[in-house]
Amino acid sequence: MSEYNSVADYEAKAKTLLESSVKGFYQSGAGDEQTLYLNKQAFQRLRIRPRVLRDVSKISLKNSIFSKQVDLPLGIAPSGMQKVAHDDGESGNARAVGSFGGIYIMSTVATTSIEELAQNAPNTRKWFQLYPYATKGISESLIKRAENAGFEALVITVDVPVLGLRRTDAKNKFVLPKTLQLANLVKEKTNGLEIMDGLSNIASNFNAGFNWEDVRRIVRSTKLPVIIKGILTAEDAFLAKANGCRGIIVSNHGGRQLDGVPAAIEALPEIVEAVGHSIEVMMDGGVSQGTDVFRALALGAKMVFVGRASLWGLTVNGQKGVEDVFRIIKNELEVTMALAGCASIGDIRPSMVKWDSGYYSKL
Ligand SMILES: Cc1cc2nc3c(=O)[nH]c(=O)nc-3n(C[C@H](O)[C@H](O)[C@H](O)COP(=O)(O)O)c2cc1C
Repeated sequence: MSEYNSVADYEAKAKTLLESSVKGFYQSGAGDEQTLYLNKQAFQRLRIRPRVLRDVSKISLKNSIFSKQVDLPLGIAPSGMQKVAHDDGESGNARAVGSFGGIYIMSTVATTSIEELAQNAPNTRKWFQLYPYATKGISESLIKRAENAGFEALVITVDVPVLGLRRTDAKNKFVLPKTLQLANLVKEKTNGLEIMDGLSNIASNFNAGFNWEDVRRIVRSTKLPVIIKGILTAEDAFLAKANGCRGIIVSNHGGRQLDGVPAAIEALPEIVEAVGHSIEVMMDGGVSQGTDVFRALALGAKMVFVGRASLWGLTVNGQKGVEDVFRIIKNELEVTMALAGCASIGDIRPSMVKWDSGYYSKL
């Protein structure tokens, strides 16, 4: 039996282990951190409406995404520089989620290269997250490398035209430790990219002019399904679909970009309503337990991703810590499903949740 019973236990332990500027980088959000707070708090406002006397003797977590089965509707969101947490880094994180049959999204600004990750976690389904670069040829080269290495989808993050106002990182002057490198970008030096280690420096290489025409060009040029990460409105969801994207990750970047935007779970319903199930709608933000995953699935998410939860596990005990985090959340999801009367993911319907305001409106 693990000494950790919840992701909160891992978070508390991780915070005692991390050097203070790294702890700040992981835990903080942008501005006043209103959205960071909302991401978690909004889940509490979404009540679960359990059904009883249904046969829940066998619970199945299987689902499908892009017509291919996943064993668990939970994956790891892209987060940069995972070797800062633990030497196991991206490879340990990816192997851990792979052992549960979930999906790993690799960040552009990883401390492991695309090619190394493919070698180190061959049995994990992997998607590549792209930050569009301003220097010509870099994005195209990264996409080609991900295709060649067997990554199954391309996730374009669109909520970082510029870096959010992260006061904690600015105060701490957070930089990538000298012993590590942005491994994906080292190879791109030959394409004229200047590699930097400070956060705002890294983001200054991104293409703030990136737009829907660029998305269309990428959709046309890659054989991978394109997913847009960082959408919070029905308007942009329509545009993603109209421009040929096959999926959306509803996300506010873990509260790290524009402060004051809604929690991802609050934005999810309008996006599901806008595009239905014609493309895959997924979400991340504030997920730390099985009841959160259940609520997101009920509101129509096909997959749910964790960012910080996996980083806390990685910090405490490398790959094994992430495996334990997944064991905990998976068990919580199974228990939640049983207690709510859902034997399969398909049973988790929108009617199984209700915003708290719905309980007070008639008073
Ligand atoms: C330390 C850290 C680094 C991140 N780096 C990236 C990144 O490189 N690319 C990206 O698209 N999102 C990045 N994100 C955002 C995550 O993909 C995800 O949207 C967010 O963490 C979800 O919220 P949660 O941490 O509450 O689960 C990062 C988040 C954190 C906490």
